[in-house]
Amino acid sequence: MGMQACNLHNLPENYTLKYYMYHSLTWPQLSYVAEDEGKIVGYILAKMEEDVSEGDESHGHVTSISVLRSYRRLGLAKRLMIQSQEAMATVYKAAYVSLHVRKSNRAALGLYRDTLGFTIKDIEKGYYADGEDAYAMRLSLKHLAR
Ligand SMILES: CC(C)(COP(=O)(O)OP(=O)(O)OC[C@H]1O[C@@H](n2cnc3c(N)ncnc32)[C@H](O)[C@@H]1OP(=O)(O)O)[C@@H](O)C(=O)NCCC(=O)NCCS
Repeated sequence: MGMQACNLHNLPENYTLKYYMYHSLTWPQLSYVAEDEGKIVGYILAKMEEDVSEGDESHGHVTSISVLRSYRRLGLAKRLMIQSQEAMATVYKAAYVSLHVRKSNRAALGLYRDTLGFTIKDIEKGYYADGEDAYAMRLSLKHLAR
């Protein structure tokens, strides 16, 4: 519920509590929260892709990530991303991690592309409910495989 509250604060893409439960029961190693004195101030909600097309490799997917405004630029999102990526690679042998991001989301693009090394794989036209395009991004996890 803390993750859901943080998500509602930060993003227009929201999910039912059932969907959070589905993530944590199915891939318990992939989602994390950042806490400040018991209050959830950031989270990553992540999963393994269930619908892998023929010829594609098993991969993780970031459903949602956000950090409350007054806790930004402290490195929390970077740490949440790295922890989830490590679990995708070691627990589930994910070859790469994928995600979608709004073309206009400068902060998230900075995090994904400049800090973590994601590349843009595709542009999905009108992906978001308000019609904005998404970049489909991915990052290889092969260097983390053990
Ligand atoms: C995107 C978001 C999760 C980043 O969280 P954060 O904890 O502030 O990110 P970090 O402190 O880990 O930042 C790591 C790096 O990302 C980049 N970055 C983060 N915020 C940035 C901004 N506003 N502008 C440009 N680059 C930014 C920087 O390279 C930063 O490294 P630096 O601080 O050493 O320069 C946060 O801004 C957020 O919650 N935004 C609203 C929700 C959202 O857009 N989620 C993503 C949906 S796809």
